[in-house]
Amino acid sequence: MESVESQAVAAKLSRSAIFLVGTVNEGGGAVQTVRAFCGDLSGIIRAVGFRDLDGDLSCVMGFGAAAWGRLFGTPAPKELHPFREINGVHHAPSTPGDVLFHIRARRPDLCFELATQIMLRLDGAVTVVDETHGFKFFDDRDVLGFVDGTENPTGQACVDAVLIGKEDPDFAGGSYVIVQKYLHDMKAWNDVPVERQENIIGRKKLSDIELLDGVKPSYAHNALTSINDENGNALDILRDNMPFGTVGKGEYGTYFIGYARSPSRTELMLDNMFLGDPPGNYDRLLDFSTPVTGSLFFCPTVTFLDGVTSEGAPAAEPEPASSETPGPEPTPPRRSDGTLNIGPLKQEA
Ligand code: HEM
Repeated sequence: MESVESQAVAAKLSRSAIFLVGTVNEGGGAVQTVRAFCGDLSGIIRAVGFRDLDGDLSCVMGFGAAAWGRLFGTPAPKELHPFREINGVHHAPSTPGDVLFHIRARRPDLCFELATQIMLRLDGAVTVVDETHGFKFFDDRDVLGFVDGTENPTGQACVDAVLIGKEDPDFAGGSYVIVQKYLHDMKAWNDVPVERQENIIGRKKLSDIELLDGVKPSYAHNALTSINDENGNALDILRDNMPFGTVGKGEYGTYFIGYARSPSRTELMLDNMFLGDPPGNYDRLLDFSTPVTGSLFFCPTVTFLDGVTSEGAPAAEPEPASSETPGPEPTPPRRSDGTLNIGPLKQEA
């Protein structure tokens, strides 16, 4: 059995990032254009990245549930579904998103050039519904002033947290990602005494040291987002949040992005934050931070993307025509043997 190459999901946290979320247009060959692009993406990343190899350019492409059906038919990744809106103490909206590009580099010009080249190729096929340019802020802090990313898993623990294993063999080596764009009420936040801010986050603001268990409130952000399985093992995700903003508009935000081998991990964290754990014991960070987008994507392997042609997914065979793709767009494909011919990965299932 062949092995698979994953996308750069676990790439190093970077100084710059661009998050592009788009919808795939109806008709006009949009579906074929996106499929043809998938097969060329790794070459485009190589071409732009080669201009500065020290720039560590990377790009992860993800697909929303509806787009997966239109582009690749069946089978679909087992846990791919639209982002679930949450109506709790605070509201987490679910917003449109067929494709995601998470572009990271040490230099903003590398990110910008890659985003430009991607959109040149997808012109007329994809409409960008959100474009956020993120930047590193001092010591890896968010604009609220706290260091963000400290407890991310590293090394093999990171691989185990983000890459699908034996639980979905057709899509092993892929990953799920949830994104949310948060806007902060900076005036209200800056009026909160630092000690209360530290209770809300669960860490010291200046030193980034975690509050002791006896001191940390049960509503602290890092208490509500630390989750375990039934055996007490930590269920980690990989976050690469980025600050963004437009000073003239008074817009200050955090772009949340969380990769995991199962979206249920991130969804449980979100439930804890928005509904509370126990219910009502919600994340006070949400009194100052409001999500204005929310989408869930599946990021297949590079091996899968490289094999996509304008006709469909690797080793695909046609399915009956779908009512959604009339006219010139061919029918969604299905793999002949239901597999991607992929081999075992290093991580445990
Ligand atoms: C406004 C948006 C957010 C901000 C500003 C933010 C900020 C932070 C900060 C400052 C920390 C502590 C340092 C660290 O370990 O990284 C943290 C931890 C964490 N956050 Fe967030 N976060 C946000 C949203 C989210 C969301 C939506 C999730 C998950 C659905 C999440 C999951 C986590 C996790 C898992 C940790 C580590 C907990 C631990 O094990 O200690 N965060 N976040």
